[in-house]
Amino acid sequence: MIDGVLESGDFILGPNVAAFEREAAAYLGVRDAVGVANGTDALVLVLDALGVGAGDEVICPAFTFYATAEAIARRGATPVFADVDSATMNLDAEDVAARITPRTKATIAVHLFGRPAPVAELVQLGVPLIEDAAQAFGSPEIARTGVASTFSFYPTKNLFALGDGGLVSTGDAELGERVRMLRFHGSRDKVDFELLGYNSRLDELQAAVLRIFLAELDGWVALRREAAARYAELGLGAACELPEDEPGHAYHLFVCRSPERDRIRAALKEAEIGSAVYYGTPLHLQPALAYLGYVQGSLPVTEQLARENFSVPLWAGIDSGAQERVVSAVQAAAPVAS
Ligand SMILES: Cc1ncc(COP(=O)(O)O)c(C=O)c1O
Repeated sequence: MIDGVLESGDFILGPNVAAFEREAAAYLGVRDAVGVANGTDALVLVLDALGVGAGDEVICPAFTFYATAEAIARRGATPVFADVDSATMNLDAEDVAARITPRTKATIAVHLFGRPAPVAELVQLGVPLIEDAAQAFGSPEIARTGVASTFSFYPTKNLFALGDGGLVSTGDAELGERVRMLRFHGSRDKVDFELLGYNSRLDELQAAVLRIFLAELDGWVALRREAAARYAELGLGAACELPEDEPGHAYHLFVCRSPERDRIRAALKEAEIGSAVYYGTPLHLQPALAYLGYVQGSLPVTEQLARENFSVPLWAGIDSGAQERVVSAVQAAAPVAS
C-alpha cells in the first residue's frame, strides 16, 4: 500500500484517506469518519463544527492530556473542569451535572487510558457529548453515544501512525460534512470557500499505514487485555491498586495507584524498568490555564490521582517474564496489603 502511494504521487486526500475513513467508520459502527492532522485538531474541528466559541463553556476532566482543554480554549470558549471518579479515573457524571450552566455548550468525556467513560450517564444530562477517544481506539464500547468522537494516531496509541494523524467520527451526516469542509479551508470543492477553516488533513501515506494496522488492531487489543489480566494473576494488586477492569477497556496504558508511588517508581528504575506518571500537574493547575481561577484543592480526586498514579509497562505481546520482573520490583518496594 505504501509503495502504491509513492508510485501514485497522490499524497494529499487521495484514495487511501477515503478508504481508511470508510474502514474506520465501519470498524467503529458509525456513519462517517473524517481524517484530520492529529487528535488535537480533531477536537478543535468538532468544537468549531458545533459552533462552540467565545462566551460558551465546555465541561471536561482536568485529569487528561492538555490538548482536551487546550482545544476548548483555542475556540475562545471556557474549559470548566469536573472531577473524576476515583475508581475509573474518568469523569464523574454527578460532578459534571453540578457544573452545567446556561452557557454550557458541550461536555468532552475522555476515555482515559483506554477505559470507556460513563457516556450513557453523561448524555442523560442533556448536553451534547463529545468523546475524546484519543486513547481508546479498539474499545468496542466507544464512539456511538456522543455527537462525535475524536481520535489521535500519535505513535504510542493503540492504533498508531508513523507520525501524526487524527480522526473525527460521527453519526451525524451534517456534522461530518462540516468537519470535512473545515479540514480543507472551509471548502467542499477547492473552488468556493464557505467557512473559515483550517489546513488539517490526514496524510495519504499515514492513511495507507493506518489501513494496514487497523486490520491488526483487534488482535493487539486482545494481547493488551491478556497482559493486563496477567498482572492481576501475578499478584501486582497486592502491592498497589490496579486499574479497574471492564470488558471494554482497551488498555492503552496500565495505570496503577499507590500512596507509595515514588518509592515504587524508584525501585522500578533501579531494576531498569520504565514507568511514568500521568498528568502529575493536572490541567486546572497548569500555568497556561491559571486564568480560569482553579487552585490546589479545587478537584480533590483529580489531585489525589495525580499524586498516586504510575504506569507499568504493557504492550501487545509483552511476555510473562517481563511482567514477573515488574511485579517483583513493585512488591519489593511496597508493603503487601494483608
Ligand atoms: C486524551 C487526549 N486527547 C487529545 C490528544 C491529542 O492528540 P494529538 O497528540 O494527536 O494531537 C491526546 C494525545 O496525545 C490525548 O491523549
